[in-house]
Amino acid sequence: MRATIPSKWTRTIVVCSKCSKRVGGGFGPKKRASLAKALREWLDQPRGRRASVGIVESGCLKLCPKGRVVAFDAAQPNEWHLVKPGTAMKDVARALE
Ligand code: FES
Repeated sequence: MRATIPSKWTRTIVVCSKCSKRVGGGFGPKKRASLAKALREWLDQPRGRRASVGIVESGCLKLCPKGRVVAFDAAQPNEWHLVKPGTAMKDVARALE
């Protein structure tokens, strides 16, 4: 078995999956997708390690904002974003950029 696998990821976005479950979707064109899924669709990239941006869902990040989803760019872990359901994906992507 190989010790390392190459990846095309240049950025990693971390999204709290528990927040996503708590708000019950609210993203994407039909406002029913989770933030992570809506971001993946909006970025329209290959799946997995072939994508240039990795979207990773985490467990609870111990912030638990009401009615929002915690997300941050792993390259800027000092700034977390509280994303409100219904926010346009281009605005989310710009904030996480
Ligand atoms: S549920 Fe998302 S930070 Fe706790």
